[in-house]
Amino acid sequence: MMLKSKVDLGFFPTPFHKLDRLSERYEGYEIYIKRDDQTGLASGGNKTRKLEYLLFEAIVKGSDTIITSGAQQSNHCRQTAAACAQLGLECHLLLGGNEPKEYEGNLLLSKLLGAKIHFSGEQRKGEGENQLKAELEKKGKRCYVVPYGGSNLTGALGFVNAAKELKKQLIELNLQIDYLFFASSSGGMQAGLTLGNDLYELNSKLIPIRIDKEDFRGKALEHQVLSIVHEGYDQLKIDKKLSISSVALDHSYDSQGYGVVSDNELMAIDTLAKEEGILLDPVYTARAFYGMLDYLGKEKIPQGSKVLFWHTGGFPAIFSKLGKSS
Ligand SMILES: Cc1ncc(COP(=O)(O)O)c(C=O)c1O
Repeated sequence: MMLKSKVDLGFFPTPFHKLDRLSERYEGYEIYIKRDDQTGLASGGNKTRKLEYLLFEAIVKGSDTIITSGAQQSNHCRQTAAACAQLGLECHLLLGGNEPKEYEGNLLLSKLLGAKIHFSGEQRKGEGENQLKAELEKKGKRCYVVPYGGSNLTGALGFVNAAKELKKQLIELNLQIDYLFFASSSGGMQAGLTLGNDLYELNSKLIPIRIDKEDFRGKALEHQVLSIVHEGYDQLKIDKKLSISSVALDHSYDSQGYGVVSDNELMAIDTLAKEEGILLDPVYTARAFYGMLDYLGKEKIPQGSKVLFWHTGGFPAIFSKLGKSS
């Protein structure tokens, strides 16, 4: 697996540390956090890791223009815009909805970072990418499409590498993580961590919290995750197949729908901010963190467990009207 075929876009390893006050509050658990909110790329986030591999591929292919898509408050799009600025690539973003009167949060930052923004109405998952690509190619641009959320095997390599990074940190601390919680939305992080958990023997149970209750292009997200994982095994010539249930997401916390901020997310933001001085984003990490607190509060996992929350960033969305993030 070509873990070295990447450009450098962030500051790694990201910090790993214990949440002391929260561990006291949830007695019987040791709670740790992995700080991908600190990757450094125009306020950080998990997509930095994927973009290191995707944009390397784009450059190797001779592309000068990058196209990607997402919601208006997409952290993926904001980080893509920043990475393109850093690498001197032209960046086009296809963002759901109509142009707002005021630009806020990630949308404001994407614009500031020089991205050319196209509003795509109802569609926020890259449905119009091929048409835009054809139009730009007619103008002589050499386009590379970063898939929705950066989620294909190339992007997922960022999280295979992240598992290797975490393993090193854990060895230094002589620590074993039993349960690893994170927000899963387009599935690339989950696929990469599934492969990395296996390859680097983290021996952690992954608990991906589902953020977006809609299916992904007509299929449950689990199918997308599984197909990336199997492609990874094929590339590594590992003769292994996982069952769909082994990549199941926890669907218990997404009933409000994508980007709707309920009391759950507000409680999660408030708790981590006031107990530990760490900011969550309202769409992804708040939902996943709430899920983790629910597991701990209801003892859905055994007392004595060592638990890790993988903070995937996204805090610029705090500076947009909460609950209006798509
Ligand atoms: C802050 C944040 N966390 C988690 C995720 C989910 O990562 P993935 O799309 O790889 O499932 C995203 C994706 O947009 C995100 O922006």
